[in-house]
Amino acid sequence: MTLLRVDSSIRTDGSVTREVADALEEAWSRHRTGPVVRRDLGRDPLLAQAWATAVAAGSTPEAQRTPQQRAAVAFAAALADEVLAADAIVVTSPLYNFGVPHHLKAWIDLLITDPRLGPGTAPLAGRPLALVIARGGGYGPGTPRAGWDHATPYLRQIFGEVFGADLTVVEAELTLAAVVPAMAALVPEAERLRARARELAAEAGRALAERVAVAA
Ligand SMILES: Cc1cc2nc3c(=O)[nH]c(=O)nc-3n(C[C@H](O)[C@H](O)[C@H](O)COP(=O)(O)O)c2cc1C
Repeated sequence: MTLLRVDSSIRTDGSVTREVADALEEAWSRHRTGPVVRRDLGRDPLLAQAWATAVAAGSTPEAQRTPQQRAAVAFAAALADEVLAADAIVVTSPLYNFGVPHHLKAWIDLLITDPRLGPGTAPLAGRPLALVIARGGGYGPGTPRAGWDHATPYLRQIFGEVFGADLTVVEAELTLAAVVPAMAALVPEAERLRARARELAAEAGRALAERVAVAA
């Protein structure tokens, strides 16, 4: 039984998404003996040109593909193999510039070039996937920036609707409160949300392990 963990924060020290995903992974590991496969898009970004090359390969007859196109298709297939081989998945995403990290978007785009993961295939139907999201600011209803988080709805749609996974979403907000002086009054709330996200992640890790055990 395999858990695929995909990280996308560009930092390691102090990363809230990594800390929350660690709580999920620890809970999973306590309940499972299966391996955790890691794809760290923040530390090891995918080659920027791979996606465009794979897309071009898609409209090029196989016999006429360049070596670069063949390599890009093979790379996308290897990424898709990793996803399809996982019994459960956790994907972490900071909010960057009101959107999804481009390393994560590049991974998703490459996956979708693989025919097994293209639109209409729902390749992860019924498979549990936890999304861990961290936002520096606050985006709740009634706040000045409500509706400015363009990452979470996109990620929900890709993993829940396009890939058909059974989603659990764990979110931490206000993560910049400790370092932005104007947010100082929000530090206690930020700490509460961070602790709550760790708890929810641990619950999600346990639930993922239990679901996978029942399905086995
Ligand atoms: C380049 C950059 C852009 C960011 N853009 C936003 C943003 O648009 N909105 C927001 O709320 N926080 C933003 N943040 C803050 C991050 O979402 C926040 O620090 C989050 O905790 C990062 O995830 P991590 O803790 O796992 O690294 C940004 C951070 C960086 C480094």
